[in-house]
Amino acid sequence: MTPQDAAKYSREICGLAPVIPVLVVKDTSHAIPLAKALVAGGLPVLEVTLRTPNALDVIREMATVEGGVVGAGTLLSPADVRAAKEAGALFGVSPGITDELIDACEAEDLPLLGGTATVSEAMKMYSRGYDVCKFFPAEANGGAPVLKAWNGPIPQINFCPTGGVTPQNAADYLSLPNVLCVGGSWVAPADLMNAGKWDEIEAIAREASQLGA
Ligand code: 3PG
Repeated sequence: MTPQDAAKYSREICGLAPVIPVLVVKDTSHAIPLAKALVAGGLPVLEVTLRTPNALDVIREMATVEGGVVGAGTLLSPADVRAAKEAGALFGVSPGITDELIDACEAEDLPLLGGTATVSEAMKMYSRGYDVCKFFPAEANGGAPVLKAWNGPIPQINFCPTGGVTPQNAADYLSLPNVLCVGGSWVAPADLMNAGKWDEIEAIAREASQLGA
């Protein structure tokens, strides 16, 4: 996959819904009901973070849910990229970028939503052919005003801000011309997952799916 193909795919998946749920799933038995609830609520794109020992199993399970587009988050190394691809991830997300990570994603045909926190990092991604990036950690880095300012010099680069995004501030991001969607963990709270309250998660997802509309 060329960087241009990867960027095109990232643009497509970022256009499927206004919010990409960022998921930390500790119990593999939650994978399928969680994915079904989020997809039913209108959030088909799912980022499973590689922050739990069972994350690859969660990706494997979620990848079987119809209508879902499952990716792997917290990619840090080429080994993560290979494992994510092998588990069935359709895209990857990283908190930052390194050349070896980009190279590994290209070698594995895994579209990468690479994390950027500065204009230089966004320019670096652009120089490698990527015009869609994650902006991380969004709120701690100054939030929507920063992306608004970046749209002056680098309007050709679009973002998925993640980190500290909430139902309260999501609309500020989504109103910007250079924001395609946001990422956030609020749609899958651990207490609701542990209680098996999938209908409540579906309701949160449905509300999130209307953000920016
Ligand atoms: C993360 O780091 O887990 C993601 O960026 C999600 O952040 P959030 O929990 O602030 O939504």
